[in-house]
Amino acid sequence: MELCTTVTAIRELVTAWKKAGLRIAVVPTMGYLHEGHLSLMRIARQNADRVVTTIFVNPTQFGPTEDLEKYPRDLKRDQQLCEEVGVDAIFHPVPAEMYAPDFSTWVTEGSLSQTLCGAFRPIHFRGVCTVCLKLFNITLADVAVFGRKDAQQALVIERMVRDLNIPIQIIQAPLVREADGLALSSRNKYLAAEERTRALALSRGLRAAQAKFDAGERNAQALKDAVLAELTPAADSIDYVDVMARATLRPIETVDQPALLAIAAYIGKTRLIDNLFLD
Ligand code: PAJ
Repeated sequence: MELCTTVTAIRELVTAWKKAGLRIAVVPTMGYLHEGHLSLMRIARQNADRVVTTIFVNPTQFGPTEDLEKYPRDLKRDQQLCEEVGVDAIFHPVPAEMYAPDFSTWVTEGSLSQTLCGAFRPIHFRGVCTVCLKLFNITLADVAVFGRKDAQQALVIERMVRDLNIPIQIIQAPLVREADGLALSSRNKYLAAEERTRALALSRGLRAAQAKFDAGERNAQALKDAVLAELTPAADSIDYVDVMARATLRPIETVDQPALLAIAAYIGKTRLIDNLFLD
């Protein structure tokens, strides 16, 4: 497995693969890898001849008061995990390699990114879209894998790819949970033991909503209430509990189309997200 820290180095590698007619998959990450990330790499492995994982804590998607500085990092461990799942190359640039001091070109998706997390993190999806397009261009990937843990992110990226005719296939991968239901996240590291216990309210709430949905409940407020019954006593604050049409990420009152039940809430100072597809 190669570790490339410059655009020139990874380009040399992927250009040679391209010339040999090989299909390349990219799995963009911010590192501090866990089983959720590794599941994406395995899917990438099944869909391409070569797999590139990118590890880059992208500064442009963090707001001024967010956790950029303290975001967890462990490159040694990440390298080991990538090696174990059969990744061919890691692209791990420093911010200056990605952003020139006078960097001035941005990708802004104008619709799907406005609700849910976009309403609370105004520059987040601009940073995500811009860095992902750069990573697609740098790695010359034919396919990219994104997790449904960040359901809105995957939908925004799909929209960007469609709207800008980017020659890449996007695969959405299932959300991976701990045995007790907690959605895997690099940010779970921030949780103290007592907070981790409270964090289980997110997945417990979603399970309660799923049970209601399975029993025939289609009223969005009733499904949200099932989540809130668990979440309100456990969370320090709640950004949103919303039922959205997956096609538009706009709120719906009745679940009569593919929908997304999505949560963002603070447990202590840690902002956690989780979601459920309602089909
Ligand atoms: P990061 O949070 O590191 O996540 C990288 C990828 O792993 C994303 O596609 C995310 O949805 C997926 N992922 C994280 N936890 C998961 C879980 N429990 N189950 C399934 N997939 C999971 O998302 C980002 O980084 C960044 O915004 C990035 C796309 C890399 C752009 O900077």
